[in-house]
Amino acid sequence: MRRLSASIGVISLILLMISCGDAGSAGNNGNPFEPANLSQGSNGLGTSKNSVTNPAAGPAMDPVTGALSAAAVPASAPNAPANLSGGNSTITSKATAGPKYVVIGFNEQGLNWIQQDYSELMIMAPGNNFHAQVIKRGLAPKIVNTGVVVKYSVPGNTYSVGKTNFWDYSLNLLGVSLAANKGLSNKGLSGKMKVTANKDWAVLGVPLTPMLDTTAENPCQFAAITVTLNGKKIGAASSPVIPVSWEINCNLCHGSQSVTPAADILAKHDSAHGTNLKNSKPVRCAACHTDTSLGKYGTGVSGMINLSRAIHGSHADRMAPAGQNPVCIACHPGISDLFLRDVHATADMTCTDCHTSMTALAGSTRKPWVDEPKCGSASCHVRSGFTFEQPGKLYHQSKGHRGVMCATCHGAAHALGPAINAEDNAQAIALQGHSGKIDTCTVCHTIANPGSFNHNF
Ligand code: HEC
Ligand code: HEC
Ligand code: HEC
Ligand code: HEC
Ligand code: HEC
Ligand code: HEC
Repeated sequence: MRRLSASIGVISLILLMISCGDAGSAGNNGNPFEPANLSQGSNGLGTSKNSVTNPAAGPAMDPVTGALSAAAVPASAPNAPANLSGGNSTITSKATAGPKYVVIGFNEQGLNWIQQDYSELMIMAPGNNFHAQVIKRGLAPKIVNTGVVVKYSVPGNTYSVGKTNFWDYSLNLLGVSLAANKGLSNKGLSGKMKVTANKDWAVLGVPLTPMLDTTAENPCQFAAITVTLNGKKIGAASSPVIPVSWEINCNLCHGSQSVTPAADILAKHDSAHGTNLKNSKPVRCAACHTDTSLGKYGTGVSGMINLSRAIHGSHADRMAPAGQNPVCIACHPGISDLFLRDVHATADMTCTDCHTSMTALAGSTRKPWVDEPKCGSASCHVRSGFTFEQPGKLYHQSKGHRGVMCATCHGAAHALGPAINAEDNAQAIALQGHSGKIDTCTVCHTIANPGSFNHNF
């Protein structure tokens, strides 16, 4: 079992096209695949084994209009109304046929970060959060938040025990004995999703690892999300990427031949702060330093510095020896797995363009996991009368366009379409024939020109 260390140079996937496990070749500056793969409308993403072709994709769509090919349209397409003249004056064009429902999934995080080895310490626990919106296509599409059953599974990845030793240590770390293959919120690798106040369907805390049942590693797997109504499957199954990485690069500076990085970290902590962590293994950092991402297991000791502030603040001036640019990937995944792989990477942006600096991350009034970058910040996307993120909400919690979640159309932060890797483009291609944001109105509307596009919620 790999220790708390990175597999630098180990790229477990050998792909023709760039995948999200390919940071080595993609880099964060300059992507050799960019011109060929990124143009909107390009469908030529090749034949990587990471299923560029969505196995659950519906019938072939016209890459330009998103309309289904004639062969795919049943003669009596249920949602091709005979008469469109009713009510709405903006409706001028003909109805397009297509499935009655559409299901679009997205992940909360661009790259969920976990550990493989928990025998000495736990910074974060396995727990992937993902969502799906179910939309009934129509002249006025309807967001479906009741009456259906929404289920998820991860094809080719059905268990986690043994892939990580998390369950061997969960009792010691958390004080509770978790059921095998169940995460902190008692969710497993398949099950039902629940509707949220945002009218999307979500499952939080899926203990997914990057290791498939074949033991091959893949940080960019797909979930299979299926929807049934009265026992019948509706809509094409959606396959959002559920990214996860256990690349932790602390070993760039911690540990040696004879001392594991984790043991070194505990020893350094003890000598700097008078604690006795090395004799209290396994150590849950959040037992003392609050980490809200762990919920009730992350409440820490009141008055003590929070985990994000502790780690970013104390390391801000220590990063040079790791020789990484951006400095962030000296700890976060990014040397072997691809963290930032979206439309911003194409624009040569990097972590600090949005997150500023480690010192800023450690700011004394900053709230970790809450005070994150905003699309709508003054130096980024500005549109009069529109804030992009809803007030007080993060990108992944916000809705645009009449209740459709931002991420339903744009994808997860750090993986916004068009992405530089094949996997994150697959869902958009399956839905509308091209990568990028969902900008083909007929994915949801049954007419090609439903009126002028309104980004507002
Ligand atoms: C670029 C080098 C570098 C990297 C990468 C790095 N550290 Fe450190 N870390 C240091 C240095 C230098 C010290 C101080 C060592 C000493 O006191 O001798 C330190 C000390 C610490 C301490 C002791 C408390 C403190 O800050 O004084 C902890 C805890 C720690 N590191 C955790 C981590 C973790 C967890 C990671 C990975 C997520 C990590 N470090 C990655 C350089 C690094
Ligand atoms: C038993 C409580 C306890 C646990 C568990 C604990 N720490 Fe600490 N940590 C402390 C104390 C106390 C300090 C000193 C804080 C201070 O003086 O403000 C500290 C300081 C730090 C600092 C330096 C902060 C700074 O600004 O210099 C880092 C980094 C850190 N801890 C990381 C960790 C990590 C990573 C873990 C898990 C491996 C961990 N701690 C587990 C109690 C704890
Ligand atoms: C020394 C290791 C280290 C470095 C370097 C580092 N991080 Fe982190 N970062 C961590 C750890 C460990 C956590 C997990 C803390 C937690 O679970 O709350 C974290 C959590 C975060 C979070 C989520 C929590 C929050 O504060 O909102 C963000 C955002 C983040 N890091 C951004 C960055 C960026 C951007 C950089 C580079 C400017 C960076 N980090 C550099 C170790 C590091
Ligand atoms: C274009 C702006 C942008 C860039 C560039 C960017 N981030 Fe982020 N980051 C965000 C936003 C926005 C969020 C909040 C997403 C949400 O929760 O909805 C975020 C959240 C995070 C988080 C916490 C939750 C999560 O999604 O994992 C971490 C950790 C993080 N970023 C690290 C990084 C690192 C490391 C890099 C560089 C490799 C980076 N970010 C580059 C915008 C950016
Ligand atoms: C129904 C799909 C859909 C939803 C939902 C959606 N967008 Fe968009 N977004 C688009 C389309 C199409 C465009 C291009 C047309 C335009 O700019 O109005 C776009 C453009 C953008 C741009 C680039 C605009 C610029 O000025 O450069 C940003 C940033 C953006 N959206 C953010 C968001 C955010 C944040 C949300 C959630 C509050 C959101 N979007 C919700 C489809 C959507
Ligand atoms: C992901 C699904 C989705 C996509 C893609 C989508 N829409 Fe919509 N649209 C909706 C939903 C849901 C409503 C709300 C219908 C209602 O309840 O009235 C809506 C309503 C509308 C309305 C009427 C309400 C208003 O905002 O005034 C217009 C006009 C509209 N959409 C235009 C567009 C255009 C143009 C496009 C393509 C650029 C588009 N939509 C793409 C889901 C979508």
